[in-house]
Formats: sequence, structure tokens, C-alpha cells
Amino acid sequence: MHTDEGNLDWVFNNTPVFFIRDPIKFPSVNRSHKRNPRSHLPDPNMFWDFHVGNPEGIHQLLVLFSDRGTPKSVRFLNSYSGHTYKFTKADGSFNYIKIHMKTRQGVKNFTQEEATRVAGEDPDYMIRDMFDAIQRKEFPQWDVFVQVMSPSEAEAYRWNIFDMTKVWPQKDFPLKKIGKMTLNRNAAFSPSTMVPGFAASADPILQARLFAYPDAARYRLGVNYQQLPTNAAKVPVYCPFERDGAMRFDDNYGADPNYVGSTLQPTRFKTEENGVTSQSLSLHTDHEKWVGEVSTYTSQVTDEDFVQPAALWEVLGREQGHQERVIQNLAGNISGVTSSKLRDGVYALFGRVNQELGAKLRKATEAKVKN
Ligand code: HEM
Repeated sequence: MHTDEGNLDWVFNNTPVFFIRDPIKFPSVNRSHKRNPRSHLPDPNMFWDFHVGNPEGIHQLLVLFSDRGTPKSVRFLNSYSGHTYKFTKADGSFNYIKIHMKTRQGVKNFTQEEATRVAGEDPDYMIRDMFDAIQRKEFPQWDVFVQVMSPSEAEAYRWNIFDMTKVWPQKDFPLKKIGKMTLNRNAAFSPSTMVPGFAASADPILQARLFAYPDAARYRLGVNYQQLPTNAAKVPVYCPFERDGAMRFDDNYGADPNYVGSTLQPTRFKTEENGVTSQSLSLHTDHEKWVGEVSTYTSQVTDEDFVQPAALWEVLGREQGHQERVIQNLAGNISGVTSSKLRDGVYALFGRVNQELGAKLRKATEAKVKN
């Protein structure tokens, strides 16, 4: 988003939760979901081995293997910050927030059969659908909502608000509509591209992402990618510490100091009266120094981690045939796991969500396993 104060990027997912809550595990999630390094083939053994060994991802797995895991295109899905962010004020006060974007095109999903067919017939389907819609000037739109939690509510809340495997149930924190988003361009996005009033929280996965995306963009596009027309802010953003490098095509801040704490007057923006200082997007508040349940972090999995997936399983049960489709989607994948011990581990994992789910999954999968 190009705002009056610079750019704000929302790099969101179509699920409100994530596979892990410790960013150190991110390369492992990716490796286990990608190809086997030896055979270069997709490998359900690796996939399920990772998830049985790291069961905190059960909530996300249930979303992934539901109808929502095969959206009909990017235009037809809801989008979620997943992370806890902050809305901040100049006086240092803030609230914790999560953002939800609901598609105005309606949620539409493929069945497993449709998804399999389209992936074979037109692997570029998703890109084509979005490109063509933007060409036709049918810019997809989303209604934007926030859930708002005060710092004191965060301290007392049942779940760690920096745990990306958990949602904030809407009965506790209802959605409030704040606007509408229209997608009409492509660019290089990063969760660290923020404007005053919007700030990262201590969410550890988010903290890791703040570095990872600009690294990827610098590697792929070059160190001055922020000057590319689609990425450049539409207003002057003063950051004389970021200069030099290949493809620098502006005045490179001329003689302005490239270090903080200088009393020399900057030349580029005469409006700066107090020399070169680094501007902080959000003031550090007592809450940032506070240490308690919300900021301590543990990857240990307990029964609490199965409460929200169990509730989701009930919700899916309200839609005709949805639970059955989840079981079939899972069974199709798990039947590729060659070790019966690992398959038992997967049934046990889903059995902790719901015993009947575990039992039905075992039956449906074992019927498909090739002996
Ligand atoms: C530790 C966790 C994560 C790390 C280190 C990470 C890192 C990355 C990197 C390096 C890219 C490529 C960016 C580029 O090529 O420009 C990427 C893409 C992406 N990631 Fe993540 N990611 C993480 C978790 C997440 C989460 C939790 C979400 C959503 C809430 C997410 C959403 C996306 C999206 C939407 C893209 C595509 C962006 C684009 O094409 O511009 N990622 N991720």
C-alpha cells in the first residue's frame, strides 16, 4: 500500500495459523514439504515425519487438508495476518491486533479432483487467473477487519498471543471492519515495510520474517530494489543510512551523513531541522520490556494445542461432507507413507484432535495403502 507516509506491505497467508511457532524450524518445514534430496521426488514420508515430530502444526494441517487448502484462485480466498501486529499512537500507547481480509469475490475452493486436474492441465492457472483479472480491470477486493487486544488483555489471555499456531477466537475478540483493499499491481513485498502507526510485535516468526524478505529481494533484485518504481514510496522517505550499491540511480543522499546522531544539517530534505536522526516507527513501551507468559516461548506441545483444532473439526462438521473430504484428502497423501509405524504416528496425532477422526483416518488410509 502506498500511503502518505511511505509503503505498508501486508504479506499474508490464506490461513490464520502457521505450521510452527519457532522460526528456527522454518527451513525444516520447507525441506520436509519439498522434494526428497536423494530422489528429487515429493515425499509423504518426509512430510509426515516432520509433522509427527513437530505436532504444534496440527491446527494448520487441518486447515490445509480441508476445502480451504485448495482455493479456486487467489481472488477467492480470505487472507490473514496470522501474526500479532500493533497499532501504535504517537504517545507510545498501542493495541495488539490481528488482521483478517475477507474476499468480496466470495470464498471458492476446488475439490481434490478439480485441483488435481487443473494442476496437470494448466499449472499456471493461479497466475493466469490473477493476471487476466487485473488486465480486465476486475481488480479483486477484500474487506479488511481487525481484532483488537489491549496489552492488559494480552497478559491475561489463555493463549500466548505470539504463538502462530493459535487464533484469537472471534467470540473473545470480534472482527471490526476498518476498510477495503484493492489489488491492482505486483511488487516485491516484505513484512518489514511499515509506516508510523503500524508496528511489529514480539511474535518470533514475524521477527524472523522482517529480515528474510528484504534479504530475498536484495539477492534477487539487487540492493537498490526499493527504488524500483513499483516498490518506491510515493512520498520522500528519508533514510540516508541506506545508500550506494549497484543500480543506484538517484543522488544517493549527496553529502548527508550516513550515520546516526549527527548534528550536520542534511541537504536533501530541508525540512529536517535537528540533524540526522533515525526515526523509530513505534516508541518502546513498558510492554516491550515486560517479561511474562506472553513473551516466554515454548515449543513443547500440550493438550492446549489441540483445543483449537478440535473446535475447527467441529466447525467443518457443520458443512455437508466437509469432514469426509478432509479425511479423503489426508488419506490420499498419508497412504504414500511407507512406514506403518509413521502412519500410526499420524493417526495418533489426528486422534488427539478427535478420536473418531483418528480412527476414520486410519481406516480410509489403510484401505489405500499398497501392500
Ligand atoms: C519464519 C517464518 C518465515 C520465513 C523466514 C519466511 C520467508 C520468506 C521468504 C524469504 C520469501 C520469499 C520472498 C521473495 O522472494 O520476495 C517468502 C515468501 C512468502 N511468504 Fe514467507 N516466510 C515465513 C513465514 C510466513 C508466514 C507466517 C506467512 C504468512 C502469514 C508467509 C507468507 C509469505 C508470502 C505470501 C510469500 C510470497 C510473497 C511474494 O511473492 O511477494 N510466510 N517467505
